[in-house]
Amino acid sequence: MTTIALLLASSAFASAPEDVVQYRHVQMEIAAKHMKSTTAIVKGKIERKQDLAAHAAGLQAVAATFGELFPEGTGPDKVKDTEARAEVWSKRSEFDTAVKAFQDATKALADAAAKGEDEAIMAAFGKVGKSCKGCHDNFKVEDEH
Ligand code: HEC
Repeated sequence: MTTIALLLASSAFASAPEDVVQYRHVQMEIAAKHMKSTTAIVKGKIERKQDLAAHAAGLQAVAATFGELFPEGTGPDKVKDTEARAEVWSKRSEFDTAVKAFQDATKALADAAAKGEDEAIMAAFGKVGKSCKGCHDNFKVEDEH
């Protein structure tokens, strides 16, 4: 079997729940780092407007993965080290709406940043922040972020 065939074959097995949780923590951290960088730029703490489009594109790209970061069997009943609440699974359609809000907001930010429109950037930036908080308030244990 070639290496690629082996890789494809192994992907047919489900990932271990602990590994999925660890992976989703990393994706959240990526979102947080792009958000932190964006905040520093839009608040004028750092003069790097030329980086805005890259951070917005990064946020949009990571947002696209969010729907699949929370498969069945990776909730607090199965994995100790998760801050996801059981509501992610018991109120799935509400959770999916929160994912969609995040995806829409990051798309708006990426579009505005690509065009360099300050007002649209600020408006979309506010929406992205609200979409993080909105989801955390309902679906994450203890909101420190
Ligand atoms: C659709 C819901 C949702 C959205 C949107 C969302 N998060 Fe999260 N976030 C969660 C959940 C649920 C957890 C807990 C995951 C776990 O522990 O398994 C989490 C965890 C985190 C963590 C902790 C990661 C760790 O290493 O423990 C950080 C940081 C974070 N989110 C930042 C953000 C930022 C910044 C945004 C927006 C740019 C965001 N999140 C958007 C649901 C969301």
